[in-house]
Amino acid sequence: MSRLIVVSNRVSAPKDPAAGSVGGLAMALSSALRKYDGLWFGWSGETVEKFVPEAKIEDRSGVTVALVDLEPQDVDEYYNGYANKTLWPLFHHRVDLTAYERSYGEGYERTNARFAEVLAPLIQPDDVIWIHDYHMIPLARDLRRRGVTNRIGFFLHTPWPARQLLVTLPHHRRLVESMFSYDLIGFHTREWLDLFRDYIASEPEVRGRLLPNDAVEAFGRVVQTGVFPIGIDVDGFLKARNSAFGRRTYDRMAASAAFRTMIVGVDRLDYSKGLEQRLLGYEQFLNDNPDMRGDVFLLQVTPISRDEVNTYQDIRSRLEGLAGRINGEFADMDWQPIRYLNRTYRRDQLAGIYRAAKVGLVTPLRDGMNLVAKEYVAAQDAEDPGVLVLSRFAGAAEQMGEALLVNPFSREELSDAIKRALTMPLAERKRKWECLMEVVRDTDVSIWRDDFVASLRATNRPADGSGNA
Ligand code: G6P
Repeated sequence: MSRLIVVSNRVSAPKDPAAGSVGGLAMALSSALRKYDGLWFGWSGETVEKFVPEAKIEDRSGVTVALVDLEPQDVDEYYNGYANKTLWPLFHHRVDLTAYERSYGEGYERTNARFAEVLAPLIQPDDVIWIHDYHMIPLARDLRRRGVTNRIGFFLHTPWPARQLLVTLPHHRRLVESMFSYDLIGFHTREWLDLFRDYIASEPEVRGRLLPNDAVEAFGRVVQTGVFPIGIDVDGFLKARNSAFGRRTYDRMAASAAFRTMIVGVDRLDYSKGLEQRLLGYEQFLNDNPDMRGDVFLLQVTPISRDEVNTYQDIRSRLEGLAGRINGEFADMDWQPIRYLNRTYRRDQLAGIYRAAKVGLVTPLRDGMNLVAKEYVAAQDAEDPGVLVLSRFAGAAEQMGEALLVNPFSREELSDAIKRALTMPLAERKRKWECLMEVVRDTDVSIWRDDFVASLRATNRPADGSGNA
């Protein structure tokens, strides 16, 4: 069996899988890689004054990682810049927050070329390469330029944007053309794939062709595309939930709720997660249901994220103001409506927290998939499960139609959904939970990984290996 080389900007292989924290991609990849003989390549998270084109190879509890240090300018222009100030907001439909600086695009190209320079010599002839996410879209093109002819797949963990928004990117054509150096491109949902296909077929600067079985042709090349919905490591998560620490956290939360009903939200502090709208929806619920005040509280766990980026600093201070205002307005001497926390919890603790919450609020404005939705469901007790309130605009909604689907932009809809979740009869909760749990099991991370890798291995490579250079 050939090796698998996984490539992502962030490499995080925790020693103890139960100790992992939020951040869907890293968790999914570390559990996936533990099973393969392979290598995980990416940025070390460190900077050096002068770039050295050589990886530091380490063993992290059974996973071999190869890490590259970047120069501060790379981090500014590639990670904080093009990845997180340009592509992330654009791919989440926030053109208003998108930065179109030329230097970011140049830093992105330069850094990806650096990754290719370090990665190419580590690749053996039979290796299969799997590149992840928006940080590294052009990497296959840069590897091909260095003569790499192996199969290379790409998976996007974010939404793909509508064509009308993508074309605001000055080099949209160049970015998409670079994707035709892959053998397989995967998305979480049919919706994101259809938007990609729409760009290929309708963009006047491309005029590609849609071929049978989701292959697409453009720029003189054919690439296979597909839908691969990611999931959680169900057994690993249930083990964490049932561990001593998971159970202790559950007991602690149940005791601290003190006969009140807990509603939970767990999200990186990101404007795409709809946190302001969620708090406003919860405020609306408190206004609409004065009789229920004092009986419920919202635990919002929100680890700080990408805090060097101005838009993240802005959302952070707006949320602090909002949580403070709602608490100031509604709290009583023995009750606080929102517990707002900027910290990270281990996976086993999170499982205990989810289990103690009767309502899970997962209401992003736009999200590639959202694994919190799946973790919340997996953590529930079959005999008395909580209710998932899920945004229609999360990729997860494509599979999890049994959740209470909401429009996260409407505070009235959020208020109604919270009330409905809190008052839902046990029989309905059980029926919904059983359907959702089946989805969680059917999309286990091992199925996602095996489907993608098998589909990548099954793609046709041009005989001379040069076709996608
Ligand atoms: C999202 C992205 C991942 C990223 C994660 C955490 O899930 O799809 O690629 O790793 O957020 O963001 P960070 O910038 O901290 O890596």
